[in-house]
Amino acid sequence: MKQLEYFKRFSVIIVTGGSSGIGCSIIKAIQNVAPDITLCNLSRSKPAFFLGPTGQHFPVDLSDATALADTASELIKKIHSVPNGEVLLVNNSGFGDYGRMPDLELKKQLSMIDLNVRAVVDLTARLLPTLLERGGVVVNIASTAAFQPTPYLATYGASKAFVRNWSLALNEDLRGSKVRTLTVCPGPTQSNFFKAAGFATPPMKKGSAPGLDMSSEEVAARTLNAIAKGQALLVTGWMNHCISFFGSKMPLVAVTRIGGAILRKMRLEQHRAQ
Ligand SMILES: NC(=O)c1ccc[n+]([C@@H]2O[C@H](COP(=O)([O-])OP(=O)(O)OC[C@H]3O[C@@H](n4cnc5c(N)ncnc54)[C@H](OP(=O)(O)O)[C@@H]3O)[C@@H](O)[C@H]2O)c1
Repeated sequence: MKQLEYFKRFSVIIVTGGSSGIGCSIIKAIQNVAPDITLCNLSRSKPAFFLGPTGQHFPVDLSDATALADTASELIKKIHSVPNGEVLLVNNSGFGDYGRMPDLELKKQLSMIDLNVRAVVDLTARLLPTLLERGGVVVNIASTAAFQPTPYLATYGASKAFVRNWSLALNEDLRGSKVRTLTVCPGPTQSNFFKAAGFATPPMKKGSAPGLDMSSEEVAARTLNAIAKGQALLVTGWMNHCISFFGSKMPLVAVTRIGGAILRKMRLEQHRAQ
């Protein structure tokens, strides 16, 4: 009930990557608490569900800077077509690519930086003047991979460290304005992510480690709860919280070696599964 009241302030929500996984679950969770909200989804493929009578899918490859700029202009027009109310922006689109740096395709690594990093800054900067006028929240989906270097996912982990630090700093830059940010760091979450990143088998089986791996619906529910509570940072699950907390207290070189050993094991399992 409290959440229903809280989300009434938003008239428009923009989600990147609502066609699957966490983004899709966030849209569905928002539809439950704010059925009258205008939903805008930005992704290459169209979500398989109805975005509501005023909702709109914007087909876009966000790693393409020109396409992003064109879509942002259309989005601003769409926001202005809804007269009042705050705006919620969820920067969620992203992907990883598992493997060792010399073996990985450079084009894909650079495209990952374009999507996971550049698009987050670009889209937010283009929409910020409108958000500052109307009030709102910018939710940035980082990862627990943001807390330490991640061998075998080197570019991905570094991209998420950028998102985490940038999003937290932006929250301070915006202090005193009508806009704030929420940085979300999910742990392993059931979605298309692991398949898209090139894992033969998901590294976690559902329910195998309570407080560590969870469903995208659970991540979405916790995200909405954190928005309503005015949190600046959300690490999903108590075990992820402990790992990221103690990991950040350990010497960086040691924590990188440990992370490397865990992720190398996944590589072996990946080969065995093939
Ligand atoms: N799953 C996990 O364990 C986990 C953990 C921590 C953080 N995360 C983060 O959570 C976010 C969502 O991932 P997910 O787990 O829900 O994976 P997912 O199911 O693979 O969803 C990824 C979303 O990103 C969109 N996307 C990919 N490339 C895009 C592009 N070039 N332009 C626009 N949109 C693009 C996809 O839509 P289209 O393919 O239709 O474009 C899809 O909707 C990502 O930022 C990921 O890094 C995931």
